Amino acid sequence: MQQKKLTIPDIKNRKNGTPIAELTAYDYPWAKAVDAAGIDVVLVGDSLGMVVLGHPDTVSVTMDEMIHHTKAVVRGVERALVITDMPFGSYNSSIPAAINNATRILKEGRADAVKIEGGVSMAPTVAAIVRAGIPVQGHIGLTPQTATSLGGFKVQGKSAQAAKQLLDDAKAMEDAGCFSIVLEAIPAPLAERITQAISIPTIGIGAGPNCDGQVLVIHDLVGLYDRFTPKFVKQFAAINEPIAAALAQYKVEVESRAFPTEAHSFTMKSEELDKLLRLY
Ligand code: KIV
Repeated sequence: MQQKKLTIPDIKNRKNGTPIAELTAYDYPWAKAVDAAGIDVVLVGDSLGMVVLGHPDTVSVTMDEMIHHTKAVVRGVERALVITDMPFGSYNSSIPAAINNATRILKEGRADAVKIEGGVSMAPTVAAIVRAGIPVQGHIGLTPQTATSLGGFKVQGKSAQAAKQLLDDAKAMEDAGCFSIVLEAIPAPLAERITQAISIPTIGIGAGPNCDGQVLVIHDLVGLYDRFTPKFVKQFAAINEPIAAALAQYKVEVESRAFPTEAHSFTMKSEELDKLLRLY
């Protein structure tokens, strides 16, 4: 049965309700699996650059790559809201460029919304994109696209002053019209405070249990990314192990001719085979 597609108001109405489950996906099969599991929001994150494309960070991800992967994800989703990250450089040069690129993500990729990293200084850009009719999820705290300026992939907002800045960032994103906001790698008490201070849902990743929802990178969750696992990740499965075992077994069976068997082969009529043998 066709599932009813979630909308922006559905997500906003979950403030202080049942926590929102958000998860990344970057292609059709994973998007299908995530949607079938009843996850509310599928994020085509620019973590794509690291976990799928093998880059050391998210900086080199392009608009074309995000759109290409968004199209595949959208084809696999019936119910979940699909949000696509605006990649580094696609929204920080000028407001018209930001609107143009956000429009491409909805028009070509068919995502439902975009996600943008940044706080107070990004508010005018976010407000302009929202005015253009494009829903925006904010992202503050550890913002991976600018991790170098933040001193690396580090917990943010640990001092009172830095925490106050993040509260201001969250309020600026709410005022700019974001429908929800990701809080990444910040102390749990600060995330709780921000969650109480704003009227839009907060989605935590490394932000403790008291947000309005949680998000993880799917490759971290299932054990498919081995370069680096942040403290905030819970690995719910280690599917790298059965995958490695299956691949090793395939090699053994190819080399020993145990695969393919008759069950995996096609036959032809014996008279046709005889004719062929007479031809050669
Ligand atoms: O790119 C991404 O996957 C993200 C999540 C970690 C929130 O931004």
